[in-house]
Amino acid sequence: MSGALCETHHPDGRFRVVATKPLPGTRWLELLGDADCRVEVCGGQRPLTREEIVAAVGARCDGVLAQLTERWDAELLEGLATAGGRVLANYAVGYDNVDVARATALGVAVGNTPGILTETTAELAVALTFAAARRVVEGQRLLGEGRFTGWLPSLLLGKRLWRKTLGVVGAGRIGAAYARMLVEGHKMDLVYLDLQASEELEAFVAAYGAFLESRGEAPVSCRRAATLDELLESADVVSLHLALDDSTRHLIDAARLARMKDEAILVNSARGPLVDEDALVAHCRRHPSFSAALDVFEREPELAPGLLDLPNVVAVPHLGSATGWTRRGMATLAAANVVGVLSGWPVWSGDVGPFLGSDPPRAAPSIVNAAALCLPALAAAQRPRDEAVSSDA
Ligand code: DGY
Repeated sequence: MSGALCETHHPDGRFRVVATKPLPGTRWLELLGDADCRVEVCGGQRPLTREEIVAAVGARCDGVLAQLTERWDAELLEGLATAGGRVLANYAVGYDNVDVARATALGVAVGNTPGILTETTAELAVALTFAAARRVVEGQRLLGEGRFTGWLPSLLLGKRLWRKTLGVVGAGRIGAAYARMLVEGHKMDLVYLDLQASEELEAFVAAYGAFLESRGEAPVSCRRAATLDELLESADVVSLHLALDDSTRHLIDAARLARMKDEAILVNSARGPLVDEDALVAHCRRHPSFSAALDVFEREPELAPGLLDLPNVVAVPHLGSATGWTRRGMATLAAANVVGVLSGWPVWSGDVGPFLGSDPPRAAPSIVNAAALCLPALAAAQRPRDEAVSSDA
């Protein structure tokens, strides 16, 4: 199969599990080995082709650790199910690359890795926000090109975010963590949009506002926008934290961009197709004071023509969850999803911290179609207490 399979671990394992990429750390391999899994790890720096995935799954495969760069559509899932596959553990919190409805119909459990990359991804979104606001990349370019002739009163003036208005679209785990970082750290007022009110986030901002007032400072505020347009019109920074599906594809298009303030910053660390990238390039060209800060791209790994030539665009290559601790933890969770399903264990819900400890729960940490597949849920009373999670190394 064109040399994509490169390493086998625990060759005598009863279950055959394929990882379509090598993953960071070793804990994930230990977990799979302890659960009697033979693990075949595909190599290479580029995503596997469809043919390579089909060949890797082969005639018998119990589970796959998959990548967000692979499109697990009906055909690939049918191949996996025919090979006896019972679980596809996506190495990501997002799973828009998997046809979950088809997987469910085939009886294949789909795992993801929530909880472990929340702050890590929020941190990157904050980094991008400030890189755009304070023209960090333009500054480095100027230095690199030998154009720095000394401090000047008006060199690369940026945008001050202190006490400005932050717009968060999607107040789930990552959106809420990002909001808290900027509300608490930079005293921004928050306007958010979500299908459901985030009581926790609202309570946090209210308590923080009361704390500021108790110290004689102006409070911060939080309100849930009624519409996306309302948020876009009022926010100085708009950050996207939504899942990608048919209802959110091109959520930010030319018309939506036109609603934003001329000096606004648009941050996308969620999924590229949420933004019409060609429209964004055109908008950034026409509005030099507008800024875009991107971790994800519509046609990843391709970028829209002209995107990187724009001085008001800051972009990094999908690095949201890219810290060693986080990526090792994601590997542990993905492996635990495979182990949990193949062992017939119930499905966990809530904080995944205990899975990172030395004695993980006998459960699958996160199966997105657990309810549809009628997989049993682990009762709260059966759960061990959360263990402390070590910091990044
Ligand atoms: C995810 O987990 O969905 C991220 O995009 C990976 O960084």
